[in-house]
Amino acid sequence: MSSPSTNAPLAPGLSNSTQSYGRVAKSFHWLTALLILTAIPLGIISNNMPFETSEELARKALVFSIHKTVGITAFFVALARILWAITQPRPAPLHPERKAETLAAEVVHFTLYGSIVLVPLSGWIHHAATTGFAPIWWPFGQNLPFVPKSDSIAETFAALHVILERVLIISLFLHIAGALKHRFVDRDSTLARMLPGATALPDLAPHKTGLLPPIGAVVAFIAAIGVGAALGKFSHSEAQTEAASLEAVASDWVVQDGSLGFTVAQMGQPVTGTFEEWTAAIRYDEASGTGDVEVTIAIGSLSLGQVTGQALGTEFFDATAFPTALFIADIAPADGIEGATHMATGTLSLKGVDLPLTLPFSLEVTEGTATMSGTLPLARLDFGIGPNYSDGSQVGLNVTVETALTATRAQ
Ligand code: HEM
Ligand code: HEM
Repeated sequence: MSSPSTNAPLAPGLSNSTQSYGRVAKSFHWLTALLILTAIPLGIISNNMPFETSEELARKALVFSIHKTVGITAFFVALARILWAITQPRPAPLHPERKAETLAAEVVHFTLYGSIVLVPLSGWIHHAATTGFAPIWWPFGQNLPFVPKSDSIAETFAALHVILERVLIISLFLHIAGALKHRFVDRDSTLARMLPGATALPDLAPHKTGLLPPIGAVVAFIAAIGVGAALGKFSHSEAQTEAASLEAVASDWVVQDGSLGFTVAQMGQPVTGTFEEWTAAIRYDEASGTGDVEVTIAIGSLSLGQVTGQALGTEFFDATAFPTALFIADIAPADGIEGATHMATGTLSLKGVDLPLTLPFSLEVTEGTATMSGTLPLARLDFGIGPNYSDGSQVGLNVTVETALTATRAQ
């Protein structure tokens, strides 16, 4: 086989030529390589770091923040790089007669171009759909337009991020293996023309990239997402703990509608948890404004976004050992408490700890329908919740319980 004659070393200009990459394309290539090869180990390390204590969680969040910030930087560099590449001729392959090898190399180039946009974008959407996680270190906020806070969006994009990141890693492996083969087996200038400096290159006829390489890359992405789906990567995680099923209670006032939840700061951002299952037995005399109440809460019915499972674990609510919480209290008119008409004074039994407390609330009864709402600050450590997260930097020490309901008088 005749090999093309090699010219004297050619110093690259800013732009690409048929022969070689220009200085801008080379700079973009190696800057992307640096960012991507930093983001990958940081992602794997941060994802596998333990978070059993406040200090461990702080360390994990720090590494995650670096991962996300490097990843977002890679995203914008990738966009600029692709815009530049579109305006540029692509250097022709040094062995165009090796059709299969050339096609494989080009398919991999397209999966790389695709993944340097899709991997950080999926991570970013996952991040924007959740609350209370390691922040991106930049001044433009943590949210994205059109991305609502949603557990299912967050879980779907977390799965996509991991699947696409695998496509990126496999493509990179093939890409680097190809570059090394050119260098050490073929001993040609394929790697050299991507490195800084002048390279001696043969005359090359212009090469046209057909539609096959981008189509091949799209097929690779679809196949990877299909494999991910078949492996159940998109099935949304359910909290492991079964919620205790609560018997209906006899009550003078029957709850028609209501909510019971709490807000706590997670990494400085408020996150809200709600209990789906709870009952309230209420006696209330309108004339005197007094009565009593017994609220039973199925702890396992908690949903707290991405950290529900962790919240139900032994460190926090320990829902298996303590499946229900109980609040038994007497109702009386509020004694000068601002913003409240009534108060419920009694005992909260939570995670094996009984503590006296008073819940101030506002109550209005119109035509047999009572509407109440109240909030109550609690110190979670008093109930042994999250003792290893005792400094409050990652999981706030104060929790605000929020409840609201409407009830009608039983017939
Ligand atoms: C240490 C690792 C790397 C080596 C040794 C390497 C080597 C090369 C070489 C030699 C080329 C030129 C191929 C040719 O002339 O046909 C190239 C092109 C390319 N590389 Fe890399 N690369 C590395 C890392 C990366 C990374 C991390 C990415 C992105 C995720 C990447 C994406 C690309 C793309 C998209 C092209 C095609 C550029 C174009 O023709 O438009 N490379 N690489
Ligand atoms: C080029 C950019 C990026 C690369 C190469 C990358 C790569 C990775 C890798 C390898 C993992 C580990 C997955 C595993 O353990 O299997 C990971 C996880 C993660 N990354 Fe990225 N990432 C990038 C950008 C981003 C960005 C921009 C964000 C958010 C703003 C982000 C958020 C995350 C999150 C939240 C996880 C954990 C996923 C989970 O819960 O399973 N990443 N990433």
